[in-house]
Amino acid sequence: MITEKKMTTKINDAREYISKKIPEIPELGIVLGSGLGNLAELVQNQIVIPYKEIPNFPLSTVQGHPGRLVFGLLSGKQVMVLQGRFHFYEGYEMHEVTFPVRLMKNMGIKGLVVTNAAGGINVNYEPGDIVIINDHINLMGCNPLRGANYSDQGARFPDLSEAYNSEWRKKALGIMGELGLKVLQGVYVGVSGPSYETPAEIRYLRTIGADLVGMSTVPEVIVANHGRMKVLGISCVTNMAAGILAQKLEHAEVIAITSRIEKVFVSFVKKLIEVLD
Ligand code: HPA
Repeated sequence: MITEKKMTTKINDAREYISKKIPEIPELGIVLGSGLGNLAELVQNQIVIPYKEIPNFPLSTVQGHPGRLVFGLLSGKQVMVLQGRFHFYEGYEMHEVTFPVRLMKNMGIKGLVVTNAAGGINVNYEPGDIVIINDHINLMGCNPLRGANYSDQGARFPDLSEAYNSEWRKKALGIMGELGLKVLQGVYVGVSGPSYETPAEIRYLRTIGADLVGMSTVPEVIVANHGRMKVLGISCVTNMAAGILAQKLEHAEVIAITSRIEKVFVSFVKKLIEVLD
């Protein structure tokens, strides 16, 4: 367990390092999911800081995750983009998975956009769909707030009754309509992975109310809510979950779908960022 004092020092050291390199405090944090990293290329007046330079920052291990923070202007807003996130299945501890979000909170960032690749449990979805997360179910087996409460970040027992901000969800759904996308929202269930689910597990997850399944997002969203940040969650359905179609799940397939829909995803998120406040 990391004591409150130690965590505060870790976060402050990281913030001080970053603050010296950026001209302005960003207003919005963005976490880019697997295969969705290209959005960072659109950030103007970029200042890029590789994770490995930042004191106390965990290091990315997965191939295809460059592992860097990108600061600059996106759709007229100062943003901090996390290009390459830390997954629980990689072996990181929850405090490492959520360190970047704690850092954002400590820097004064008030809003977080979290994106991910997810399996579709709802049979009305198709691979390639973009879905706004309206709630989540935490089945990762643990909670990132377990242990000492970092009281300067938030309360011991934070409320999660609107973990995904309802106004931001409304705005996002409106933009999906304007862009001619299917207007979809659903419940995301976070599992630890790294194995994909069995067909029986998918039937169970559907029964308990899940529309999407993935191996990320939930820890970051819990920590963002602890820090009273507004959250918007966006899933890209990369595959139908196990047992729905007569085919096996391949990581390569997941990546192929994200690169196919990346253009649409990028224009959606760009437009969305204009209206989030
Ligand atoms: N299950 C869990 N995580 C995922 C999936 C899935 O089917 N697709 C993309 N991430």
